[in-house]
Amino acid sequence: MPKVLRSVVTAVGGYLPEQVVSNDDLAKFVDTSDEWIRERTGIQQRHKVRDDEPVSDLAVAAARVALERAGKTPDDVDLIIVATTTPDLTFPATAAIVQRKLGCPVGIAFDVQAVCSGFVYALSVADGFVARGRSKCALVIGADAMTRLMDWNDRGTCVLFGDGAGAVVVEPMEGEGTADDRGLIGFALRCDGTKQDLLYVDGGASTDGRIGHLRMQGNQVFRHAVVNISEAINSAAADAGIDVAAVDWFIPHQANLRILQGVAHRCGIDEDKVVTTVMHHANTSAASIPLAMNAAVEDGRIQPGHLLLLEAMGGGLTWGACVVRL
Ligand code: UT7
Repeated sequence: MPKVLRSVVTAVGGYLPEQVVSNDDLAKFVDTSDEWIRERTGIQQRHKVRDDEPVSDLAVAAARVALERAGKTPDDVDLIIVATTTPDLTFPATAAIVQRKLGCPVGIAFDVQAVCSGFVYALSVADGFVARGRSKCALVIGADAMTRLMDWNDRGTCVLFGDGAGAVVVEPMEGEGTADDRGLIGFALRCDGTKQDLLYVDGGASTDGRIGHLRMQGNQVFRHAVVNISEAINSAAADAGIDVAAVDWFIPHQANLRILQGVAHRCGIDEDKVVTTVMHHANTSAASIPLAMNAAVEDGRIQPGHLLLLEAMGGGLTWGACVVRL
């Protein structure tokens, strides 16, 4: 059988800002309670950036960990894709800033904007370079400081989000073209722009010139997530040629414990295969999947050769899933 080039995730890293904000901390200035937040979302705490801490700093910290674990240096990196909704500046891309801060040579660097689905979208974009031999060492980073977009008077949203970054190193390797290959072996990406009003930020460079605040019709997003993510998961599994029941670890976007458990249940995934970090990180948008991967690699659950199923949903509305064999 002819060999095919696969995009293989060779390492993961993560970074969380130092400051931890508990539910009780929020209840001091918002009409909410620790009990309500835990019961409805599973969230117990979130990390928050300092005022002088741009998202590129989070991304660089996560990338350094991933590069070291991959045995790579910034000199090796020829492609940087940052999935973010909270860039340092309107331009240049945060990826270009990360390239400068890491000291990588001149290569390709750009951002992907698919909000909470950004990491899955960015992996697919990276696959287009790596699996065609156009990148030998790619950094794919999900980094967000969603606390910068909060309306702190809106209890329906401000308790849900946190800040952080996760990064993976992706390298080309030859495979057999089967589901047993290492690498990014299946994708399903979706967007339904007619659902914009359910989740968006009410400001922008080409409209009112403001950064704006996040607005969400939470219960409608919730319903959309549980129903539609299952379809994307099954499509990604079919694309990879695997059975969903065969995955070792399910690594969902961490928005709400009830959503990720509901999706796992609908897809017939055992509860003990679900990686959950939402309790400690809250919803870190594009960072949530690589941060969850990082947590499960660090505690030894995820091992080389394991089959991972990633899924996410966010503003757009965008959603998608990806099957990865490590
Ligand atoms: O990453 C992007 C994707 N985003 C998501 O996946 C988020 C999806 N949505 C959700 O996670 C849930 O819908 C929420 C956690 C946002 C809300 O939970 P819910 O069970 O759907 O509650 P709800 O919006 O229907 O609100 C129920 C009640 C309301 O009060 P009334 O009208 O019943 O009196 C809200 O005002 O809960 C109230 N409420 C709160 N109470 C205390 C809403 N937020 C809070 C709060 N503290 N923080």
